[in-house]
Amino acid sequence: MAIAIRQLHPHFVGEVTGLDLRKPLTRQEATEVEAAMDKYAVLVFHDQDITDEQQLAFALNFGERENARGGTVTKKEDYRLTSGLNDVSNLGKDGKPLARGHRTHLFNLGNCLWHSDSSFRPIPAKFSLLSARVVNPKGGNTEFADMRAAYDALDEETKAEIEDLICEHSLMYSRGSLGFLDYTDEEKEMFKPVLQRLVRTHPVHRRKSLYLSSHAGAVRGMSMPEGRLLLRDLTEHATRREFVYVHKWKVHDLVMWDNRQTMHRVRRYDQSQPRDMRRATVAGTEPTVAPQAAE
Ligand code: OGA
Ligand code: MN
Repeated sequence: MAIAIRQLHPHFVGEVTGLDLRKPLTRQEATEVEAAMDKYAVLVFHDQDITDEQQLAFALNFGERENARGGTVTKKEDYRLTSGLNDVSNLGKDGKPLARGHRTHLFNLGNCLWHSDSSFRPIPAKFSLLSARVVNPKGGNTEFADMRAAYDALDEETKAEIEDLICEHSLMYSRGSLGFLDYTDEEKEMFKPVLQRLVRTHPVHRRKSLYLSSHAGAVRGMSMPEGRLLLRDLTEHATRREFVYVHKWKVHDLVMWDNRQTMHRVRRYDQSQPRDMRRATVAGTEPTVAPQAAE
């Protein structure tokens, strides 16, 4: 069966049919999916009842697996998943929803803020692939914003003003904005801010994107309030309804997105009920600011 794609939003998002993600892709299929990602930035696949191993194998068509280390307050021995996928559920190791006050739960609530995955890493993520294993009964839609369309819609003066700006990103900024402020010394070291360009260019089609994320908490050369106000204004612009696609999950949906061209957030959901979402993350290949090691 040939791959077919139907665009779901005026700017981006393709719904893909004709692929069974339980099976290895042919080289031709992998090339087609990657080209579709470049174009649509978000792809939706329905009815993909896959294992963690199959999900990871599909992701590895597009690059290397990103190591989850440094992106969470959960210790490795407390991981629910040992398959190499990121656990984006609200579940503990016992398979039950985490208690309301559990530190991991409070930290994970940061996913309700608009972000781009791993923008807090020196080399941020390329693609994320999220599989819905258990859908929550209330809320929990995931929203995506097209950061290319948002960039294109800026006026020329703003484009010129922000072209070369550099931001500092850290998990302590995103979580801090929700009042999660207590970190161990080890976490402070792990979550040290990294630098990212505010405008980035896609390596294949060369379209520019606004590279925003709730992890961004300072702009180089600006006072903290001035920088944060600029980031807030740009985020408000970039997440206007015209740039946003809302995904309402069905069990066994798989949605993959390009973190270089989109932001996303999950909406609040019923935390007393399970929501089991598992993410394979494809590592990026280069920093947006070079050379970061010298900082
Ligand atoms: C993620 C994420 C949103 C969701 O997997 O990176 O932000 O819907 N998830 O759980
Ligand atoms: Mn995310």
